[in-house]
Amino acid sequence: MAKDVIIALDFSKKEEALNFLDKFEGQSVFVKIGMELFYKEGPEIVKEIKKRGHKIFLDLKIHDIPNTCIGATKSLLDLDVDMFNYHAAGGFNMLSSASKVIKDSNKDVVTLAVTMLTSTDEDIMHEELKIDKDLKLDEVVLQYAKLAKKSELSGIVCSALEVPKIKEELGKDFITVTPGIRKVKKALDDQKRVVTPKEARELGSDYIVVGRPIRSAEDPLKEYIEIKKEFLGE
Ligand code: C5P
Repeated sequence: MAKDVIIALDFSKKEEALNFLDKFEGQSVFVKIGMELFYKEGPEIVKEIKKRGHKIFLDLKIHDIPNTCIGATKSLLDLDVDMFNYHAAGGFNMLSSASKVIKDSNKDVVTLAVTMLTSTDEDIMHEELKIDKDLKLDEVVLQYAKLAKKSELSGIVCSALEVPKIKEELGKDFITVTPGIRKVKKALDDQKRVVTPKEARELGSDYIVVGRPIRSAEDPLKEYIEIKKEFLGE
């Protein structure tokens, strides 16, 4: 399975994203486009970045009734992106009906489930979402991951620290995409639980998502190459 570094393109404007990508001239990189950029610029930004030869994880976190989810999936398949995702909380019907559409399309795309958002803690889970008080957050993440696997999605987004347990329970081919990566443990920004690229490799992550450490580097290309080498163990 291909391991790779995904660069989070957390920009609000097309020009900013494209100027940043100019620094990677000649390199084909894997980028993550989120709601901020997509809602502002629409499918055109995806087409432009694809035209430049980059791979795309379109992070739109679909969550709706199965019929709408099927329609959204068809629209995303038409964009020919390499990876996209759903909220596991949408349930088996939603996830599996999306999976079926993807299988029928014969397109080679990685589909992920978002388990529990990292902004949701155990208090919110119990008090607001009314999830059984006996369940710990990591147990719910595992349940959601199982639901994603049963629905035949390719994997989940999770913390690298959760990867060993996920792989043990769901198999090494179940893909894990992990944000929260920092080269040194002090540079946290707003991330709480971070690991280094080397630790992510040792824990078994398939893809790491890296935003600010690359975007704010003086030389983003150099930083990207260093992080990639460390992650791939080259
Ligand atoms: O800048 P930084 O490396 O922290 O960016 C990480 C990226 O991964 C951001 O786009 C963020 O939204 C995303 N992400 C995350 N934690 C999650 C899911 C996604 O940091 N649980």
